[in-house]
Amino acid sequence: MSEIRLHIDGAEVTAQEGMTVLRAAKEAGIRIPTLCHHEMLEPYGGCRICTVEIESRGRTSLVAACLYPVEQGLLVRTRSEKVDKIRKVLVEFLLSHAPDSPILDELAREYGADPSRFRRESSFCLLCGLCVRYCAEIKKKNAVGFVENGGKRIISFVPEIAIKECWNCKECFPLCPTSYLQAAYFLTEGLSLSTDAVWKE
Ligand code: SF4
Ligand code: FES
Repeated sequence: MSEIRLHIDGAEVTAQEGMTVLRAAKEAGIRIPTLCHHEMLEPYGGCRICTVEIESRGRTSLVAACLYPVEQGLLVRTRSEKVDKIRKVLVEFLLSHAPDSPILDELAREYGADPSRFRRESSFCLLCGLCVRYCAEIKKKNAVGFVENGGKRIISFVPEIAIKECWNCKECFPLCPTSYLQAAYFLTEGLSLSTDAVWKE
């Protein structure tokens, strides 16, 4: 594997071929915010909060740091007017869905985001997919998944699997940036138990 030299926020950074900009930055002690990324999971690129500005062969563009591979001589800016503006709007939009998320609150303070910019449509799920991917990739259980598409997309536990597998696991709970996952699980569990009770009557 060959060594790649790039610049992140003006500092020269050495990375390995195939690494993402996010990983190279992290190893150099430079923080890029993430919401849908997890070291143990396949890159997803869903939330775009890790957007950075890159300059390569004279061209500037905005890319997701968690997906973009390092390149020889790449210039990366993790904070710039454009980057900060994108993150601010993303946080404002996500806060309209999950107003109580501590991670979003922190990001709102950092980027000066206005929590009331968008009309509240509290779904309490950011669709980051961490729970779905953790259960599929690490636990190989698929007890939770996405249902529907587009604006109607939500996560849902599969009751038959969740009742058997989740009680002793719950490893996805701490990954969720909002309280939605736990609520969805306990709702699933509650509904399954009451359905069982009805059947037994
Ligand atoms: S329930 Fe939580 S972890 Fe799962 S997709 Fe929604 S925000 Fe992400
Ligand atoms: S952390 Fe990169 S797109 Fe979500």
